Amino acid sequence: MKKFAPVIRGYDHFLHGGDYNPDQWLGHPEIIDADFERMREAGCNTFSVGIFAWTSYEKREGEFDFAWLDRIMDRMAAEDHRVFLATPSGARPAWMARKYPEVLRVDARGIRDRYRLRHNHCWSSPVYRDKVADINRRLAERYAGHPALGGWHVSNEYNGSCYCDLCKARFREFLRERYGSLDALNAAWWSSFWSHTYTDWDQIEPDDFCVDALAVDWYRFNTWQIVDFMHHEVAAVREFSDAPVTTNMMGFRPDIDYWQVAGVCDFIADDRYPGWLEVRDFAGTAAAAAMCHDFHRSMKRRPWVLMESSPSNLNWQPYYRLKRPGLHRAEALLAVGHGADAVMYFQFRKGRGGSEKFHGAVVDHEGSSRTRVFRDVAEVGDILRRIAPVRGTMTEPEVAVVFDTDAWAALMASGGPSQGEKKYAETLNLHYRALWELNLPCDVIDSTADFSRYRVIVAPMLFMLKPGVAEAIRKFIADGGVWVGSYLSFYVGDSNLYFTGGLPGGGLRDVFGFWNEELDGLTPEDRQSLIPAADNTLGLSGDFPLEAYAELLHLEGARMEAGYGSDFYAGTPALTSHIYGSGTAYYQSARCGLEFLRAFYRALVARHGLETAAPAAPGFHATVREGDGERYLFVYNFNPEAGTFDLGGRSGTSLIDGGRRAGEITLSGFGSDVLRLD
Ligand code: GAL
Ligand code: ZN
Repeated sequence: MKKFAPVIRGYDHFLHGGDYNPDQWLGHPEIIDADFERMREAGCNTFSVGIFAWTSYEKREGEFDFAWLDRIMDRMAAEDHRVFLATPSGARPAWMARKYPEVLRVDARGIRDRYRLRHNHCWSSPVYRDKVADINRRLAERYAGHPALGGWHVSNEYNGSCYCDLCKARFREFLRERYGSLDALNAAWWSSFWSHTYTDWDQIEPDDFCVDALAVDWYRFNTWQIVDFMHHEVAAVREFSDAPVTTNMMGFRPDIDYWQVAGVCDFIADDRYPGWLEVRDFAGTAAAAAMCHDFHRSMKRRPWVLMESSPSNLNWQPYYRLKRPGLHRAEALLAVGHGADAVMYFQFRKGRGGSEKFHGAVVDHEGSSRTRVFRDVAEVGDILRRIAPVRGTMTEPEVAVVFDTDAWAALMASGGPSQGEKKYAETLNLHYRALWELNLPCDVIDSTADFSRYRVIVAPMLFMLKPGVAEAIRKFIADGGVWVGSYLSFYVGDSNLYFTGGLPGGGLRDVFGFWNEELDGLTPEDRQSLIPAADNTLGLSGDFPLEAYAELLHLEGARMEAGYGSDFYAGTPALTSHIYGSGTAYYQSARCGLEFLRAFYRALVARHGLETAAPAAPGFHATVREGDGERYLFVYNFNPEAGTFDLGGRSGTSLIDGGRRAGEITLSGFGSDVLRLD
């Protein structure tokens, strides 16, 4: 595999830096001077500038001042730094909201917000769109040819909904496009429920979530609004600049389909803030972060940008816990090991006021490079230079985990089953974690992705089957693929209508080899367990507790690998496997805990001969990147204590300290290393 080109054209470095807000320090030139010094000392080279700077460009309507940005850009260029220049639409000047209240959002009850906060503009307002296009054009025209320009940071963390008349009209337009006629919409939405049959598009109220198909379409419309707004912003930029564009994402959400937002981005950027608050289980925090990283790497199947992270504490978490020594380096390298070509922070220098003065930053209020946090960041800067050969390499997993936004939205929108137990993201995290602990590289894909490049697909709780997905699953398994499914899969079609004729729906009953007749919602007092069958093909043994959901299956060709331990359905299948064509379909019909998932995936790796990056060890993790004929192994100890880790017959040279590594290596508490494998 050939290495990928750098994210910023011609700038062949790991990017290191972060949000830089000199607009908050315009009266303090000595601070700006100090910042440039700190940037050098910290080994930082790339900065997102101007994200919330609109008032500094246009203090009064039509009066523009870019002199301060000119100076910053020139200084950046002089230092050979690069800038992801922001479009400032994430927050707007007060004068604009006063003069044009339509730029503000309207809530579901029809009340327009006052001027406050950020990330709260109407998506449809023609005035806002004009104002945004105008400022974007001015920025693009002025800086398109600037040597410091690395790319465009379009807006900030697009999210949320507006219920103004314009947005509602666009929603109805979106539905008209999707369904063509009200008859088709009424049928797809099952809207005779509670007398909701619509006879005019105007009757559709976006928050009428008793129509659970409407709820799913509203989430889809949210994504459509974001994509449309971003296209609008990018079009203005593109009149002058062809530098790559992105917008910073926020990981897993049921209300934004990032696979679609990715389509507007030239490169993927994510904001990731692991809290490290599970102080007896740092590996759990790390695994959850890594799953997000894999999600962002999988979007374009190329290196991505960690656009924001905190070098220290987080002011918005319930506890303001410091990152323990080593953890910052491990967190940064975890992103890199999982495909990031950039480690960037929110933010470079702490602001003295505003609601984020307690948020971690590279430069503290104290201002020097002597702080512990600063030195941690500088160490990462140094390491990113040492591991330069890794930039542009990729990971090509045999395994993918399916994260499906629509399936999540549909499950959340449905009334029941067991409202508080759905926990889609948490469940995926748990499955992923078991794979992560085994050091099995994974992609994270949408259910409409191309399955053919994988050997194993793990798709828990795939509640909704979007068009074509059932056929793709059938083909994947028939062609030799291994599918791991679970309870709450294959219940509804594209508009959240329950399948008739028995589950698994979508015609998948013969592929999985059972009929799923009923779903038992377990209360916390219920005691249910999974007991492997004596002759199970995975070599499982023990007695594993179950919670929340248990489906009652009738075998129609599948093999019972494990059964339920108690209650009236004791002895019926809780885990099945079914050979279909040349592949295997596994199904876990109840929610299993981490202990079971560890045992199950360990068995799966052995049974199907999957290649891991290194042998598993508690609290340790390893992952690989490869390209241009080289393989790089990233290893981490997420335990607070030092420990040894077996490289499993691999050996190599540390890119960090040049030392040879083979056999058992020792890593300090929260230690991490990057090896070029022999
Ligand atoms: C992000 C946001 C940044 C900053 C940061 C604090 O969500 O994009 O502007 O607020 O959170 O953690
Ligand atoms: Zn609106």
